[in-house]
Amino acid sequence: MTEHSRPRQYPHSQPPDSASRAPGSHEFASDESVSDEPVSDEPVSGEPVSGQQSLRLRLRSLDAFPIVPGDFDAATVPKNPYDLMATWLDGAISSGVSQPHAMVLSTVDGDGRPDARTLLLKDVTSDQRDRAPGSDSGAGRTDGFWFASMSDGPKGEQLVENPAAALTLYWREQARQVRVRGQVFEGPREVSEADFRARSPQARAAALTGEQSKPLPGADAVRRQLAAAQEFVAGNPLFVPRAWTAYRLQPEEIEFWQTTAAREQVRVRYSRTASSWEHASLWH
Ligand SMILES: Cc1cc2nc3c(=O)[nH]c(=O)nc-3n(C[C@H](O)[C@H](O)[C@H](O)COP(=O)(O)O)c2cc1C
Repeated sequence: MTEHSRPRQYPHSQPPDSASRAPGSHEFASDESVSDEPVSDEPVSGEPVSGQQSLRLRLRSLDAFPIVPGDFDAATVPKNPYDLMATWLDGAISSGVSQPHAMVLSTVDGDGRPDARTLLLKDVTSDQRDRAPGSDSGAGRTDGFWFASMSDGPKGEQLVENPAAALTLYWREQARQVRVRGQVFEGPREVSEADFRARSPQARAAALTGEQSKPLPGADAVRRQLAAAQEFVAGNPLFVPRAWTAYRLQPEEIEFWQTTAAREQVRVRYSRTASSWEHASLWH
């Protein structure tokens, strides 16, 4: 039997059997995510990476949500998801969540193959209080989640081939996740330039060195190129490479997810309508 033809293995319990569950039962989800059952040492599938069972057992015995987080009342959320995003981001920053601006950007290339990488969230602009200068594409909208990168690397090429993308933020200290789906647009040139110039000289020199995601030459060549870029940046503090781009993901959906102190998974998904937003609570 090949890896692909094996039935899916469930770590702590049997696959959900909807026919045998009462409507509304949370049995499977809560068992799977926060089980206190002893961990089985029965093989899952394939060889463990460590060559022995201990790493697999240790992974399977870890607590899904070791932190007891706060509550999230789905009944009192605001109408506009950007208001909730601002509250959550503010709470994450002020309560000391580590790298609350780190997020995973998922893209799809022209052949339909997904890719993903971590980036920094640079700004969130709402559709109530637009702040981005000018108006770029996207039916005149300027709202969304902003990030910056070189446009001539893999993610930039993928976004040209297919602008549909997703963002995932996970704040483990708060057991919170935010998922965003939408289309990515290039922001106005002046936003890209301001973003690049706000970076430290070291970060600017690093961005100017080599070609993002291409294989490295030898260490000596890397050192030489970096030194040359540092000298260039010192002499040209306003220079911005053409490929440096501020991107805006304009959401169609934003989902807020929280595990509560009662170990419930509370999810609220906002969907864009023609003129506003609607939201609904989701099953775990
Ligand atoms: C915490 C963290 C933050 C990052 N922030 C950025 C960023 O803001 N912009 C960027 O281009 N790459 C950033 N990177 C590097 C990317 O993950 C990735 O390696 C790079 O952008 C090349 O991606 P690509 O090959 O998919 O184009 C970051 C990596 C980490 C781990």
